[in-house]
Order: sequence, then C-alpha cells, then structure tokens
Amino acid sequence: MFLRNYWYVAALADEVRDRPLGRMILGEPVVLFRTADGALHAFEDRCPHRRLPLSMGKVVGDALQCHYHGLRFDGAGKCVRVPGQDHIPHNARVRSYPVIARYRWIWIWMGEETLADPKEICDFHWLDDPDWGAKPAYLHVDANWQLIVDNLLDLTHLAFVHETTIGNMALVEHAAVKVQRAPNNVVVTRWIIDQPAPPTFVKVGKFTGNVDRWQIIDYTPPAFLRLDVGATPTGAGAPDGRRVGGISMRNLNAITPETETTSHYFWGQAHDFDVNNGELTNKIFEQIRTAFLEDVAVFSAQQRNLDIFGDAPQVDIAADAGTIAARRILSRLHDEEQAAGRVAAE
Ligand code: FES
Ligand SMILES: [Fe+2]
Repeated sequence: MFLRNYWYVAALADEVRDRPLGRMILGEPVVLFRTADGALHAFEDRCPHRRLPLSMGKVVGDALQCHYHGLRFDGAGKCVRVPGQDHIPHNARVRSYPVIARYRWIWIWMGEETLADPKEICDFHWLDDPDWGAKPAYLHVDANWQLIVDNLLDLTHLAFVHETTIGNMALVEHAAVKVQRAPNNVVVTRWIIDQPAPPTFVKVGKFTGNVDRWQIIDYTPPAFLRLDVGATPTGAGAPDGRRVGGISMRNLNAITPETETTSHYFWGQAHDFDVNNGELTNKIFEQIRTAFLEDVAVFSAQQRNLDIFGDAPQVDIAADAGTIAARRILSRLHDEEQAAGRVAAE
C-alpha cells in the first residue's frame, strides 16, 4: 500500500550533483539529475525510444542525454534532439515529477501533479538550522516501510535491540507514557524520571548520576517521525520545560517506500549543544547509526517472516498504542486517496 499524494524524500542533496541518480520510488523507477544551471529535475527512468533507463545517460548542458542512441530531453522532459534527423516525434517526451531541495534532502511528488504544494513538505529544519549541529544519512532497507514507522513509534525496543547505545531497561520499567491522537498526527510522549542514563547519553552528555529522560515522538503520515529526545541530571525540572545541564537532540526520520518489500530510509541526528563541534556531531551520529543498523537487521528479518506467513495473526501489547493509532490513520488516508482517485477517474 502506497500513499501517493505526499512529498517524499527521494535523495540526500549530496547524492545528486553532476551525474544522474536512478532510484525506485513507490514502485516507479525515477531518475534525478541537475542540469548545468544547477536546476533539479526528476523524470521517469525510462527512455521513450527503447526504454533504457535514462539514469545510465549523462547531462549535456541543459538536457539529459540517453546512453543508448543519444536522444536528449530538456528539463521538462521534452525531446529536443534526435541524432541524425531534424524531425522530433511529438510523443518523444518523458514524464517529469515535481522536485525540491530542502533541509539537505531532495523531495519528490509522485502523485497527482496539480495537488503538489511545497508548503506541505514536512518540517525538518533541524538538519540545516545553524542553531543545531546535524548530519543526515541514508540506509537502504529490505523491508516494507510500515515496519520502520512501527519501530519508531514504539521505543521500548531500545531496551532490547540497542542496549549498548541508547537503550536500558528503565525505558520499559520506569516510564510514564502518553499517546495523543489527532486526525493526521500521533504523538507518543515518554518520561523516565530519576533513572540511569543509557551508554550513549553517558558518552556524549557526561552524566555521572541519574537522569530525567524524555522521548517525544511526533508522527506525521505517511512516514515522517521527528523525535525530540534528551536528558538532564535528575531534578533539574525538565518535565516542566527546564532543560538545563543536559543534552537535547532531534532524531529525524523520513521513510520512502521503494517497493512493497523494500524502503529508502532517510534519517538524521541533530543536537543543540556544542553545535559547531563537527567531531561531536560525528560521534553522536555514529552512536545512532550503530543502533539503526541493529534496527535494519530486525526489519529485514521481520520482512522475511512476512513473506513466508503473510497476514498471520499478531498479538498486540500496551506498547503498541502509538503504532496502532498510526496504522489506523494510514488505512483511512489510503481509503480516502483511493476514493478521490475513483471520483477523478469517473
Ligand atoms: S533507448 Fe534511449 S535513445 Fe534509444
Ligand atoms: Fe531502534
């Protein structure tokens, strides 16, 4: 199941420089490239001549040239040159998609073009805000995108999957959890008061005693999860907004379906302390990356079982409240999009 009428992250900005990048998005092959003037473009990755992926071609000035017989397409996808002939067939054009570079990511709109409004791009300003140190990254995942959404909405797994970095048992055994539901949003708030800090927090926050730790997960469909996480020495008053003497970070996640069983996982980690210390940014990033690779191993193993057992029944537990709320929203939005598509087609 894909939701189409949304902006998705297609690539890291750094991935699209002087060569075309081919990437499957929502089951459709796309080529992303920049013309010589720096303008960003996205086409269906299929030459209308003999179907070679255009991502095998190259940029020539303000056009993309197919690798096979050299047809060239301008930024709008219109053929502007057929080698050896003056006539350009009127149907020699490629579908193009709206694309925008924002927050060190490249965003694409795969849905109904008239609905594409850049104002609806989810806010990830922490990735390029000078008040934050941040580093974005990309992981390819052999699993359906909803498994990643589930994972980020239930952070009790940190105690088991990430015990060497960001997890400890306090997250499960000493947490106050609240789930807030809105029509297109779920917020899961978890406070762990007067408990030991997990290994990563000790490393980067230099905590010597117990901490008050928060995890505030903000979910926006289809697959954007912005986590406000941190800790202060216990008793500083963090639950009342006094985040002093500790660390505050944003863990930022944008998942883009590649196929039904594979995903593009764009993520980044931002911190609001010592923001110009690149070494610190890297140190935090590496800690989180270690944890995320542990997640990727979980997702792909889940997907293998999904492939074997399909929709076999699952058991639900209390920690699933956020995940279940998000899945309900997704199911409703999918129905709405399908219904609108039927109306448009009639
Ligand atoms: S396949 Fe692209 S020019 Fe022939
Ligand atoms: Fe995780």
